[in-house]
Amino acid sequence: MPKQYRTQDKYFKRAKERGLRARSAFKLEEIQKKFRLVRDRDMVADLGAAPGSWSQVLSKWVGPGKIFALDLQAIEEIAPNVLIYQVDITDEAAVAAVGAGQVDGVVADLAPKTTGQHDVDAYHSAELNHAVLNFCEKHLKKRGYVITKIFQGEDFQQVVKRAKKKFKRVKCFKPESCRDRSRETYIVGQGFLG
Ligand SMILES: C[S@@+](CC[C@H](N)C(=O)[O-])C[C@H]1O[C@@H](n2cnc3c(N)ncnc32)[C@H](O)[C@@H]1O
Repeated sequence: MPKQYRTQDKYFKRAKERGLRARSAFKLEEIQKKFRLVRDRDMVADLGAAPGSWSQVLSKWVGPGKIFALDLQAIEEIAPNVLIYQVDITDEAAVAAVGAGQVDGVVADLAPKTTGQHDVDAYHSAELNHAVLNFCEKHLKKRGYVITKIFQGEDFQQVVKRAKKKFKRVKCFKPESCRDRSRETYIVGQGFLG
């Protein structure tokens, strides 16, 4: 079977061994290893957090800090420093619990319901990324950071361009643990300009 079609790959097995709820945690670990963004005591909003593997690792990294884990889906309890909200992140009233200018970082592993049509899926992913940037405008502290997943497509550059207006430094990074053929990449923004 070709490598890219293996669903239970080495990351899947490692996630099981470490009690992580999804293999996605390894992507965040790779991003953290490269950019060193998340710090002890940080307040972080995790958008599209279900089933919760990013929040599991974030919870350890921030120690006495706090994680706001937001998703359309229900998330099982993770740790005392992870506050869970079952909400649509595009619904401003529903996400108000996070508080304005409250978080040091916004991380988003959001994925739209995929159709299998790359251009349609990429369009919806770009829309979600605009919602993430809107969220940053409201909830991120000045000099804060963002990590957000996007499916590459026609609107990708437009999202990057908007991020560049909002953050001092913007880079795109595809972790090794992303599946070989996936078109996803992560936009990493540092130094939110407010
Ligand atoms: C790939 S999963 C995230 C995996 C997660 N990072 C983890 O490590 O467990 C993508 C999530 O985005 C969520 N999502 C998509 N659109 C959303 C929206 N508008 N509001 C909130 N969550 C959304 C989906 O429900 C799904 O759980």
